[in-house]
Amino acid sequence: MQYRALGRTGLQVSAVGMGTYQTFDVSGAAGEERCRRIAGEALKHGMNLFDSAPMYGEAERVLGLALEGRRKEALIATKVLERDARSARASVERSLELLRAEAIDLLQIHNMAGWRAVTPVLRELQEEGRVRFIGLTDYRVSSYPEMMEAMRTGLYDTIQIPYHLGETACRRELLPLARDLNLGVIVMTPIAPIFGRGKLLGALKGKDLSFLAPCGVRTPGQALLKYVLSDPAVSAVIPATSRAERVAENAAAGEGGPLPPGALQQLERLLR
Ligand SMILES: NC(=O)c1ccc[n+]([C@@H]2O[C@H](COP(=O)([O-])OP(=O)(O)OC[C@H]3O[C@@H](n4cnc5c(N)ncnc54)[C@H](OP(=O)(O)O)[C@@H]3O)[C@@H](O)[C@H]2O)c1
Repeated sequence: MQYRALGRTGLQVSAVGMGTYQTFDVSGAAGEERCRRIAGEALKHGMNLFDSAPMYGEAERVLGLALEGRRKEALIATKVLERDARSARASVERSLELLRAEAIDLLQIHNMAGWRAVTPVLRELQEEGRVRFIGLTDYRVSSYPEMMEAMRTGLYDTIQIPYHLGETACRRELLPLARDLNLGVIVMTPIAPIFGRGKLLGALKGKDLSFLAPCGVRTPGQALLKYVLSDPAVSAVIPATSRAERVAENAAAGEGGPLPPGALQQLERLLR
């Protein structure tokens, strides 16, 4: 597994981390045990970044359970989606409890909600040692101008954004600004975009991907992850899976160098 700097934080994150949206929103012993196996596989294959959110149902609680006893091997990123300081503090305290964590490594403002009002309380939580770093996240490209305004305040360490074979708008202004400010870049939904969950895998289905074999890419999932990781502006991608047997496949995309420009273009042509 390759490790990359998470911007100015000093943290080294695995190029492939793990998301928990839907996949960790489970209850009952069987589901929780499955998530423990998935998290165990992730750690075994070198993933150290786990992303969750209070909005993901049971995911924070189940992630906390799944990482029990292995907390030191993991970096936990979660989110806050509140519009005022008081509710934001309550949300973070609840996340700490559910995650069974002394501190949250990265607290991201979900959908940029109330970012001006909420940031001072996140700074307080940093001073109290309950939050290590703070970031911004939004799944809407239309929010990029506001995200850039917030980034320029210098208060945030990371951004989390959509970036995949079918969505590259971040390359124009957002990623250059993140590079100038030395912010970490975490990429959500690399395999199943929010707008068209099946469209990327659908486009690659049955296609000859043998041109990617010299780069160690053998499956459509790996092709999609490697496409994003080929951009040096990206710190980590965080695919989610409900299948422990898929973790090794996704982790393998975090090995080796970037795809050459010709291979990137060939992949883009397959989507068209
Ligand atoms: N900040 C935000 O607003 C925001 C929004 C959305 C997501 N996120 C974060 O980003 C993470 C990733 O996004 P996501 O979970 O929506 O989408 P994703 O990771 O792109 O895709 C997940 C889906 O892809 C499938 N999958 C995973 N690996 C695969 C492979 N190698 N081959 C084929 N299919 C594969 C999974 O199915 P199986 O379960 O069958 O493997 C699952 O249905 C989330 O979990 C969450 O942590 C953040």
